[in-house]
Amino acid sequence: MANRFVLNGVSYHGYGAIQAVSEEIKDHHFQKALVTSDPDLIKFGVTKKVTDLLDEAKIAYEVFSKIQPNPTIDNVKKGLEAFKNSGADCIVAIGGGSSMDTAKAIGIVAKNPEFSDIRSLEGAIVSPNGCVPILAIPTTAGTAAEVTINYVITDPEKKRKFVCVDPHDIPIIAFVDPDMMASMPAGLTAATGMDALTHAIEGYITAGAWELSDMFHLKAIEVIGRSLRGAVKNEKEGREGMALGQYIAGMGFSNVGLGIDHSMAHTLSAYYNTPHGKACAILLPPVMAFNADASGEKYREIARVLGVKDVDSMSPKEYRQAAIDAVAQLGKDVGIPDNLKDIVKPEDIPSLARDAIKDACTPGNPKPVTVEEIEALFRSLI
Ligand SMILES: NC(=O)c1ccc[n+]([C@@H]2O[C@H](COP(=O)([O-])OP(=O)(O)OC[C@H]3O[C@@H](n4cnc5c(N)ncnc54)[C@H](O)[C@@H]3O)[C@@H](O)[C@H]2O)c1
Ligand SMILES: [Fe+2]
Repeated sequence: MANRFVLNGVSYHGYGAIQAVSEEIKDHHFQKALVTSDPDLIKFGVTKKVTDLLDEAKIAYEVFSKIQPNPTIDNVKKGLEAFKNSGADCIVAIGGGSSMDTAKAIGIVAKNPEFSDIRSLEGAIVSPNGCVPILAIPTTAGTAAEVTINYVITDPEKKRKFVCVDPHDIPIIAFVDPDMMASMPAGLTAATGMDALTHAIEGYITAGAWELSDMFHLKAIEVIGRSLRGAVKNEKEGREGMALGQYIAGMGFSNVGLGIDHSMAHTLSAYYNTPHGKACAILLPPVMAFNADASGEKYREIARVLGVKDVDSMSPKEYRQAAIDAVAQLGKDVGIPDNLKDIVKPEDIPSLARDAIKDACTPGNPKPVTVEEIEALFRSLI
């Protein structure tokens, strides 16, 4: 079967990228925007960097900001109401994955009311009537939701996060401006950056990976590997590298899928509201070790682009360990814990594992996995 590849129509990159927002809205003849953002971004003046530009250009808009990290079904329903009441014809999504994912769900359901219960969006669909056009402006360097065809919604009642995949939800334009990320504190920069690295590594070794996706993922690992430490110190070059690196990872994984690191991370967020990036980051070295013997030569290339010397003279065992060690070192350098002791309650592990195995990311894992193996991975971290 042929491989499908979906990317944004247009994207802007680098400092000053947000300056293009008003012109794009005008060029598309949109009349009014619903701006989706979250309370902290409003508080820290991050959203305002864009709404000031809309004000200047006299573009009509309303703001919806009742979005929490790991956004819920209820957040989407309230956002949908705000969208309908506003009379907007486009959405400007400003924020991390939570704000952009909520925008995607609003945009799809606004055009396809048969999904108004939100839960039925789960899994892979091709929505019949498309999506409200979304212009996306990421404020974290992690999820790359501005270039992916995925969004993730939390169902607090059922204590689970569910992944929705629909080629129609991809933002029509992405504005990837490192200045929008400059206000992230170090811990958030580290966690979201490690989420991006997890996308790049899981996407590189996932079951559906192929030459085109490999090109994006390997480059993303390299750019993230050389940029994340600097971004955490809020250095300009590091921020610039992370804005680009996470986006390149998104271009890849959105089209080929991920693996059990994300399956397990989703359950941790659903049970304990663990920040997504932190969950992904802690799980990454042990999940890489688990998948090592199903990854062919790929860990040699991961080690190489992460700066490990003499990888060509290493045995598979050596270069696989070198890749895992380089990833663990990067996590350590940016302050990521190496265990789940403060997060996971041991008595929850059997049900965490049962939920993780059902996650939409599990089939993408390069190697088949059992519930017992996922349990063992969780146990190895407490
Ligand atoms: N759509 C996708 O393809 C995709 C991929 C991976 C993860 N996700 C989902 O995205 C969500 C996580 O998104 P996230 O990690 O970007 O974080 P987030 O959007 O949940 O934001 C976390 C916190 O960081 C704050 N924040 C964001 N940008 C900031 C800035 N510039 N300055 C100061 N504070 C800032 C927010 O206000 C919020 O309080 C999860 O629900 C995850 O499942 C989606
Ligand atoms: Fe992720």
